[in-house]
Amino acid sequence: MSNQLLKGKKGIIFGALDERSIAWKTALVAVAEGAEIVLTNAPIALRMGKINELAKACNAQVIGADATSDADLDALMVKSMEVLGGKVDFILHSIGMSPNVRKNIEYTNTNHENFLKTLDISALSLHRVLQAAMKADAINEWGSVLALSYIAAQRTFPGYNDMADAKAVLESIARSFGYHYGFAKKVRVNTVSQSPTVTTAGSGVSGFDVFYNYAEKMSPLGNASAEDCAKFCAMMFSDFTRMVTMQNLFHDGGFSNTGVSSLVIESMKQPDNA
Ligand SMILES: NC(=O)c1ccc[n+]([C@@H]2O[C@H](COP(=O)([O-])OP(=O)(O)OC[C@H]3O[C@@H](n4cnc5c(N)ncnc54)[C@H](O)[C@@H]3O)[C@@H](O)[C@H]2O)c1
Repeated sequence: MSNQLLKGKKGIIFGALDERSIAWKTALVAVAEGAEIVLTNAPIALRMGKINELAKACNAQVIGADATSDADLDALMVKSMEVLGGKVDFILHSIGMSPNVRKNIEYTNTNHENFLKTLDISALSLHRVLQAAMKADAINEWGSVLALSYIAAQRTFPGYNDMADAKAVLESIARSFGYHYGFAKKVRVNTVSQSPTVTTAGSGVSGFDVFYNYAEKMSPLGNASAEDCAKFCAMMFSDFTRMVTMQNLFHDGGFSNTGVSSLVIESMKQPDNA
C-alpha cells in the first residue's frame, strides 16, 4: 500500500543491477511512493544487468555513470536535472565492489592496487557523488543522500576483507560531507547499515551463507530483507526524517545490539558424551 510519502520528490538511484539489488527494490518503493527517478549504474552493469526492465517499470530514464569518474558524475547531475525538470530531493548510493573479494585474495596478503580500487569504488565514490552534486547545485534544500553500509565498519567479520575498511571510510565521509552540506544547503547525508542480504555483491563475500544464517539467529527480528531496507530508505528520503543527518543507522533486526542470542547458544552446545 502506498502512502505517497515521496509525492512530488525527484531522485537519483545508483546501483540497481538485478531484481535482488537493494537499489532495485528501493527504486520500486520510491516510485510507488510518488517519486520520479533517474536510474544510473556503471556502463558495464548497463550491458550485463537488467536495468532496462526496471526503468520500464519505474517509467525512468537510465543514465550511465562510473561512480569513480568525476566527468561521468558531473554529466549525470546535469542530465538528471534536465530529465527530471529540476533539482533532486534524494540520492541513493548503493554501490560496492572489491576486486580482492572477487578474486579470493586474503586480507593479510592483499593486492594493494585492488585495495585502492575497493576504496575508490565502494567509499570515495560517495565523496565524488556528493562533490558533483554540490558543484552542480543539484540537490534541493532538505534533500537526503543515503549510502549503504555494513557493520563490518565497526566490528571484524573476516570474510568481508577490505570492504570493511571501505565501509568505515564510507561512514566517515557521510559524517564529514554531511556537516559541510548541512551548513551549506541543509542537505542531509546518512548511511544505512543493512543486514546481510542475498544479492550479487552480498553473496560474493566468502562464507556469506554461514554469516547470513548466524545473523538470522542473532537478530531478535531476524535479518532485514532488501524490501524492508527499501522502505526504510523511502522513509529516510521523506520529510518525516528531515532533522536526521550525519548518522549511521542500523537496519538489522537488532543484530548490532545483541551480544549473543539463545538460538546461537543452543547451536553451540556440545553433544552430551557422558
Ligand atoms: N548484500 C548485503 O549483504 C549488503 C549488506 C549491507 C550493505 N550492502 C551494501 O549495499 C550496497 C548495494 O549492494 P547490493 O547488495 O544491492 O548488491 P548489488 O551487487 O546488486 O549492487 C552493487 C552495485 O554496485 C554497482 N557498481 C559497482 N561498481 C560501480 C561503479 N564503478 N560505478 C557505479 N556503480 C558500480 C554494481 O553495478 C551494482 O549495481 C553496497 O554498498 C553493499 O556493500 C549489502
